[in-house]
Amino acid sequence: MANKTVIKGVKDHVGESVVIGCWVNNKRSSGKIQFLQLRDGTGYIQGVVVKSEVEEEVWDAAKSLTQESSLYVTGVIREEPRSQSGYEMTVTGIEVLHLTENYPITPKEHGVDFLMDHRHLWLRSSKQRAILVIRAEIIRAIQEYFDINDFTLVDPPILTPTSAEGTTNLFHTKYFDEDAYLTQSGQLYMEAAAMALGRVYSFGPTFRAEKSKTRRHLIEFWMIEPEMAFTEHEESLRVQEEFITHVVQSVLKNCRTELEAIGRDISKLENIKAPFPRITYDDAIKFLNDHGFDIPWGEDFGAPHETAIAEEYDKPVFITNYPAGIKAFYMKPDPNRPEVVLCADMIAPEGYGEIIGGSQRIDDPALLEERFKEHELSLDTYKWYMDLRTYGSVPHSGFGLGLERTVAWICGLDHVRETIPFPRMLYRLYP
Ligand code: 4AD
Ligand code: MG
Repeated sequence: MANKTVIKGVKDHVGESVVIGCWVNNKRSSGKIQFLQLRDGTGYIQGVVVKSEVEEEVWDAAKSLTQESSLYVTGVIREEPRSQSGYEMTVTGIEVLHLTENYPITPKEHGVDFLMDHRHLWLRSSKQRAILVIRAEIIRAIQEYFDINDFTLVDPPILTPTSAEGTTNLFHTKYFDEDAYLTQSGQLYMEAAAMALGRVYSFGPTFRAEKSKTRRHLIEFWMIEPEMAFTEHEESLRVQEEFITHVVQSVLKNCRTELEAIGRDISKLENIKAPFPRITYDDAIKFLNDHGFDIPWGEDFGAPHETAIAEEYDKPVFITNYPAGIKAFYMKPDPNRPEVVLCADMIAPEGYGEIIGGSQRIDDPALLEERFKEHELSLDTYKWYMDLRTYGSVPHSGFGLGLERTVAWICGLDHVRETIPFPRMLYRLYP
């Protein structure tokens, strides 16, 4: 019996006979030879079936195979410098598991709606596979960064009684007789965790009933939310740039093949190293006004504004100190200029938009209470959050990284729908 292996592992089996469970990605034939393009999720290999060298039933089985048929293939691994992977298999045996008929996704072009309706099958394509591998590496590198830097992973709840990021896009549900919302952000709970554990981070799904249909918005997306006790805004910015550097450099190191498979311009990523440039909101407004945008001080940026600013840099850029009026209730005012807050959005290069939102949090109980009133938030539901200021309040900061926007940027994708296996969007809940 030949040894069972996976395509990624064939380099350790040169000259040996192995068996691999796989699917047919594509097939070519030249009369006496059939070339099977095989995939198993770990990689791709060409299986060569030579009529004069195999039993008739093996030849016939190879002939019967169609795109996405499943099989166990047996054969001898050879080095093949002309192939992309560097290896090829001389096929000696085929056990057909399932013959596929009329696979809907063919090598021809398909429209986006068709592909989204077949997302469960589209995932098998080489580009979608590569994106998911890169997404997994990004997650691994994120966790590695925080684990190395003494952050403890803490899981905030998904069902919540309150809003963390404004009340307009809350996802409502019933919680028996009470009203509840799917979490928009774990931040408020992470602040409680930081007061217990010092440095913490969460990684989980968040939900926003965004009525806007854009290339950057999902209804369900994954966020990484670090929170740090005894940490001022400036220190938080340094953590953010180091963290993003670590993630991008890890993907470059561990996902070369996948980045190449999707045609990413790698030189644009090699450059992503801390420190990152910074610009204040005031200067950003000035810059925009000088470049033909008619946006007054006090208004929030839209995608075109962010893109115009990002185009000035070849690294992510921090936009800092936004007006308090357009930011969340919990952000700490700048002590020298209370109309702006100690916050920053990190805007990715190449027009990928905001990937991080973060700030120093209000630690003064009286000021926080005032903010609750201004924002018409009920003190009853947030009493526990007030307690964090009542009992041993400390300066603390944190931020949230949107995973899908980060994947879109690192992979160079125009739309976040390809960054998550099953995207939840304004008009899409299927499959
Ligand atoms: O800027 P946001 O709203 O910040 C917060 O939620 C803070 N509570 C985070 C914190 O300080 N702990 O969201 C953070 C990031 C954004 O920068 C963006 O990358 C992503 O989450 N994001 C979305 N990604 C996809 N679809 C959406 N609808 C998103 N909304 C936000
Ligand atoms: Mg934001």
